[in-house]
Amino acid sequence: CGIVGYIGQKSAQDIVLEGLHSLEYRGYDSAGMAGIMDGQMHVVKEAGKLTALEEALKKHPLDTNMAIGHTRWATHGRPERANAHPHQSADGKIALVHNGIIENYEELRDRYLQGETFTSNTDSEIVAHVIAHFYQGDLLEAVRRTLKEVRGSYALAIISADEPDTMVICRMNSPLVLGVGDKEMLVASGVPALLKYTRECIYLENGDLAKLTTSGYDIVDLDGNPCQREMVHIDWEDQSAEKEGYDHYMMKEIHEQPETFRRVMTGRLHEDAVTFKEFTLTDEQIQNWQHIDIVACGTAYHSGLVGKSILEETLQLPVNVEVASEFRYRNPRLDAHSLVILISQSGETADTLEALREAKQRGATTIAITNVVGSAISREADQVLYLWAGPEISVASTKAYTAMLIALYLLAFYLGDRAGRFNLADHKDLLEALAKLPDQAESLLTEAKKEEIRQHSQALIDADHLFYIGRGSDWAVAQEGALKIKEISYIHAEAYAAGELKHGTLALVTDGTPFVAIALQEKTFEKTLSNVNEVVARKGRVLCLLKEGHDKISDDLDKRIFIPDCLDMVAPILAAIPLQLLAYYTAEARGCDIDQPRNLAKSVTVE
Ligand code: G6P
Repeated sequence: CGIVGYIGQKSAQDIVLEGLHSLEYRGYDSAGMAGIMDGQMHVVKEAGKLTALEEALKKHPLDTNMAIGHTRWATHGRPERANAHPHQSADGKIALVHNGIIENYEELRDRYLQGETFTSNTDSEIVAHVIAHFYQGDLLEAVRRTLKEVRGSYALAIISADEPDTMVICRMNSPLVLGVGDKEMLVASGVPALLKYTRECIYLENGDLAKLTTSGYDIVDLDGNPCQREMVHIDWEDQSAEKEGYDHYMMKEIHEQPETFRRVMTGRLHEDAVTFKEFTLTDEQIQNWQHIDIVACGTAYHSGLVGKSILEETLQLPVNVEVASEFRYRNPRLDAHSLVILISQSGETADTLEALREAKQRGATTIAITNVVGSAISREADQVLYLWAGPEISVASTKAYTAMLIALYLLAFYLGDRAGRFNLADHKDLLEALAKLPDQAESLLTEAKKEEIRQHSQALIDADHLFYIGRGSDWAVAQEGALKIKEISYIHAEAYAAGELKHGTLALVTDGTPFVAIALQEKTFEKTLSNVNEVVARKGRVLCLLKEGHDKISDDLDKRIFIPDCLDMVAPILAAIPLQLLAYYTAEARGCDIDQPRNLAKSVTVE
């Protein structure tokens, strides 16, 4: 979602609208704005794109010098007007815009809001009501007390009709930047919304709350202690601002992965349990399944290849993974004992949608894993698991892919536990390994690490062919690595099960043939290394992807990229990041159109 707020001397409506336009890529399900006129809160909001809000504002202009606005990418509740932001307290006096997910909103509602009625089914509305519950004449204090009770991720901008000269903003694991102007303050979830008015910005830190007035700002922490934050001067060119200073959406989205990881696990991953409040499956239904199909296309299909082994282990059932365009036409044997998991970032891919319809028609239970609330697949599947990764603009999928992997792991743990075949309490180490991923992903995105990978990419830029090899889930990782480089750098790349090389492909290896070897799984590490040596013996060039500490590897192999030491199970998630970067830098050096590769589309709605 995109948040924008303004407080100053100018027309707030125009500035907020302009800001929302520059953030529209963050979400376009619905949009809204709130301001205070004659002591009354006024909220204008509409479903659909920003133009719908613009039309509504022509009829009901907000003639104010302070306003908050929002453009929504649905997480809780469908993309319709009632669920659009701003949301208000029961008495209508407090309005807020929210980006993020409140994990414990039901708990808050039951504890503080007994008997109140709500106009939406969003978690955000609950927060507006709770702030009103704590309000005793000091908005900042009421927000602070509310946040002490809130678990989850949020960026919020809040105004109250009782304090028409104050805006309160705060953040936790969702982006929010404060722009400091001359007798005016702006706030937004991304810098592009601010640039026209100021280049002096403060990136709020997790747990920061700020009170804004026309004359300045005060930042405090969740305990009310004053905080000092550094002012940063932004000198990006306007056209790259939408990409937060990155040259391409793909790089921006690669960098969003730590945050995406946190979001997909929010409210679902706990110390000794995994929950999916959104599911309505009965234990009996789960225990009744006898086989599982995972059906998807492209990158989503590759996530299924990784998910297969974990689902087989936790549910102790056979799992078949298939591309949707094949699955549909082979008369799949499905019945009431089948579970079909459909994976699709867009939720609109025609082949996957048709496979879903086929599965339903044959009596299978269907679970969709998708990023787009209200998409066709999400509407038709029996159960939906949303990725909450935010819009993905670059055609080559990055953050949605890794979010799919985490979603599949969470799903496998959850279903296995409920089926009584996998006791999660005995596997806390797996849950801990997932919880560590956001920080480990950050360590793969430092400037030094990126530079190291960029240098490795230089050896690939003139290649005509490239091979990715691995075993087990490393092979699945290899397949996604090869697809990534094919999609954006146009180098012919193929992934092979490392053990299969000797059955044919080895004939292609000559002096200098480039390979990327994935050797992250303990069980197959030595075996994969033997395959690497087979290639090296024929003068092939191998770049190895290894775990830190696993460097007992032949000195001939001086080309290595390390990911942080982690459980084998989560290695595919971390491994994706360097492979995405390798593809990116190779494509960049070859001068390719990274975000919009030739002949490809983000969402394919033809069969
Ligand atoms: C297109 C895109 C791919 C994507 C595939 C499946 O081919 O170019 O990047 O993986 O569709 O998309 P979905 O939205 O179903 O995940």
